[in-house]
Amino acid sequence: MHDTTFLSGQLKEMGTKICDFFLVRNMIEKDVRDLLTDHIMKCHRRYRLAIKHKGEDVVLADPERYGYYRKDHSSVAYSMYGNLIMEDLLDTFTPIVEEITQLNLNPNYSYFSLYEHGNTLKKHIDREDCEVTLSICLGQSPEKPWPIYISEEKFNLESGDGVIYQGREHEHWREPYEGEYVAQVFFHWTDKDGPNGNTIFDGRPYLGHPTENVIDRRRP
Ligand SMILES: [Fe+2]
Repeated sequence: MHDTTFLSGQLKEMGTKICDFFLVRNMIEKDVRDLLTDHIMKCHRRYRLAIKHKGEDVVLADPERYGYYRKDHSSVAYSMYGNLIMEDLLDTFTPIVEEITQLNLNPNYSYFSLYEHGNTLKKHIDREDCEVTLSICLGQSPEKPWPIYISEEKFNLESGDGVIYQGREHEHWREPYEGEYVAQVFFHWTDKDGPNGNTIFDGRPYLGHPTENVIDRRRP
């Protein structure tokens, strides 16, 4: 069962309703999150093997298939947009997050990052149509939370824990990471009743549909 902690303060108007921060403990059970972390590790390994066997030009030209190292100002972590498993999880989580936030939500897109020692997340807000975000820690080594700061709140996520927040309303960041790795997945929604209510599937015809300019689409 989910154990949702409702945090007071930092309320922001969204359309006709209110969305708060929500810390959700044990959102993904251990067997499932271990499988997902392993999948992210294997994506990362495939990325490196593909560079060796196919060449860097081929791999860098197809970031949706192989993932890529971010080069934007907020992070340099290995990441992937629209991974099919994560896209399906975005669909699965939609009614759950609607129930928690009491908002009507359009699934927008999914994204994962594999943070490594020394990585950081610089202070930023998300692009305009990332109205509601669920960020889940799938796995980390050592099992010691790497704090996420969202406005004035500090969140310590154990593996399996998630935090729901408004990434375009609240600046968020992390200090340099001192552990070995953190596998993190992000799910983004728009508010059906808000100004971006017509934005769904990030402009794609369905979740998992290939898109163009993946790297440009992940603007901080
Ligand atoms: Fe962000």
